Amino acid sequence: MVATGRFPLRLFREPRWVRQEPTWPQAAPAVIDAAYRRAGARPDGNWYVVGASREVPTGRAVGRRVDDAEVVLWRAADGRLLAGPGACPHLGAPLADGIVDGDRLVCRWHGLPLGEERVGPWCPLPAHDDGVLTWVRLDRLGGGAPTETPSVPDRPRGAVLEAVATVVGRCQPRDIVTNRLDPWHGAWFHPYSFANLRVLSAPPVDPELPEAEDVFTVEVTFRVAGRVGVPVLATFGCPGPRTVVMRIVEGEGTGSVVETHATPIGSGRDGAPRTAMVEATVAASPRPGFALARAAAPLVRPAMTWAARRLWRDDMAYAERTYTMRAKTDGDRTVGD
Ligand code: FES
Ligand SMILES: [Fe+2]
Repeated sequence: MVATGRFPLRLFREPRWVRQEPTWPQAAPAVIDAAYRRAGARPDGNWYVVGASREVPTGRAVGRRVDDAEVVLWRAADGRLLAGPGACPHLGAPLADGIVDGDRLVCRWHGLPLGEERVGPWCPLPAHDDGVLTWVRLDRLGGGAPTETPSVPDRPRGAVLEAVATVVGRCQPRDIVTNRLDPWHGAWFHPYSFANLRVLSAPPVDPELPEAEDVFTVEVTFRVAGRVGVPVLATFGCPGPRTVVMRIVEGEGTGSVVETHATPIGSGRDGAPRTAMVEATVAASPRPGFALARAAAPLVRPAMTWAARRLWRDDMAYAERTYTMRAKTDGDRTVGD
């Protein structure tokens, strides 16, 4: 039971780092792997997260890469998100350098306007802006049954504060997902952020487990400074093959979510895969201080992004390491899932 009260901060006690209860006996690779495989079997409608909504402003084209394919994004005059392949169908100019004119994107090289209709081999891509993240549907890459819109995880509504951080690593989406499906590493590997972490329940190794039961429940204190922190109860689950959602279910910020999305972007110069980790934090709280934080969102958002990036510096090292170990074992640098 997590204490809630007038003030969210608690003075907590913790053992010395090396005296914590080791978590390795519970962190069974088979449990993590089974959770990853169940997630992989869930349909995603061929949708891929490509970044934050605010990264695509009105009037400017933005380029992204998904599985070595260039994608360009821009907004129609009414703000709708539009997308298409990133190479001009005429002579291949990079459309991310194009100029937005009304609903259209005009190629810089010879002025070919592109929009919501097919032009030769160039075919617009379905795109979706959920208010926090942008998504593109790539049917050839996904290979599953396409859906009209992506299934966006449930997020807190109303007064929320959101921030998005992106970190690219030399690994596959699998490595990002399995890092998040190992909640046991939290207080050991990130002692600057977490203390007194206990995994209260983990899903069994059962390939048929329904999604509603496919969750890890974790008790943890988010360290604010020194031994002052915020104790919460959180769950982790995968609504899709490349997404892990952490949801605070008890304590400060109940209902807040951290969505981690892993999008393959293709190979690096070394031939090894690169994956973009796009993490959206959507925080909610009824506290008066939260209203202030929302009012100061332009100031608070960079701090939220900084905190997420700091964690991901270590988590990406973890993900890159699991990729390297797997590649070594399989004797193949582009090991499959
Ligand atoms: S390359 Fe785009 S119009 Fe020629
Ligand atoms: Fe981590």
